[in-house]
Amino acid sequence: MAEIGTDILKAKALLESGELVAIPTETVYGLAGDALKPEAVSKIFEVKERPTFDPLIVHVPDFSHVSKYAADIPDNATKLAERFWPGPLTLLLKKQPVIPHLVTSGLDTVGLRCPDHALTRELLASLSFPLAAPSANPFGYVSPTRPAHVNEQLGKKIKYILDGGKCGIGIESTIVGFENNKPIVYRMGGLSVEAIEKVVGKVNVQAYSSSNPKTPGQLKSHYAPTHKVVIGKIEELLRRYPALTCGLLTFQKDYKFPYQFVLAPSGTLEEAAQNLFTALREFDKMPIDIILSEPVPDQGLGRAINDRLRRAAANGTA
Ligand code: TXA
Ligand code: MG
Repeated sequence: MAEIGTDILKAKALLESGELVAIPTETVYGLAGDALKPEAVSKIFEVKERPTFDPLIVHVPDFSHVSKYAADIPDNATKLAERFWPGPLTLLLKKQPVIPHLVTSGLDTVGLRCPDHALTRELLASLSFPLAAPSANPFGYVSPTRPAHVNEQLGKKIKYILDGGKCGIGIESTIVGFENNKPIVYRMGGLSVEAIEKVVGKVNVQAYSSSNPKTPGQLKSHYAPTHKVVIGKIEELLRRYPALTCGLLTFQKDYKFPYQFVLAPSGTLEEAAQNLFTALREFDKMPIDIILSEPVPDQGLGRAINDRLRRAAANGTA
């Protein structure tokens, strides 16, 4: 095996001394700390200004580590991990006592995930503990998909950002829990519901629209940029807001508008997911009053993208 890089060694040393490090994953950047050390975990909540009732995902190097941190693992969880790990899938499993209550906000389940990013997998494999890591953004804001995004918002508060470039998927992991082995999707994300159903059959989706959210990730206003977002047909929205300076967020069509972001010039949902959070951040820097967005095709990754757009729309202020 090649020698471990100096960047990974630096991240490892900081994490071993209880500090936080921003880490790249295939979905979004995470703000990581030793998941077994409550002092490190409480720093995560502090830096993110995140309420402690919102539990953290614990990242492991591979499936063989799951039985250390979770018990009573349903067959369907094993099947999904075998098929999709490393990858954008978080499994909610019954927690083992070694996971501090602070990590799970007192719940008896823990969210476990094996991220698909070479640097972070190498880092995880070199550590004797798993990493608790929420997305590396202030609570309630858009998740970071590039090191610069992390630096802009949390750079002053953390000692190191492990630079793994731009995130390949760009939207958070899909969260799946189980009731008597029956999978339930609690957050749509980088792994499509259709892909999950190919392995375990029809699944129940309780994301976003739930009136009684089980996870704060289901809260409507969880992904809000600073500007108000409205969703609909672009032409109609432009007629509705003639007096405002608008930013247009489109799937593929270029309106040649002064303030616009085309999510997917090539027309793929993968490209749209990769660009979504960068686009929302770019708009925040533009002198606009409002973001007018069209939904993307509502299938595969498109369902997760539309979910994030609807949540952004739920909380904006003009
Ligand atoms: O892609 C991802 O999942 C990224 C990367 C860094 O891995 N992480 C991420 O973490 O998006 P975060 O904390 O921003 O969102 C995780 C969501 C939260 O809404 C939290 O409520 C939910 O997962 N969650 C974590 N543990 C849970 C548990 N035991 N039960 C229910 N929900 C849980
Ligand atoms: Mg988050």
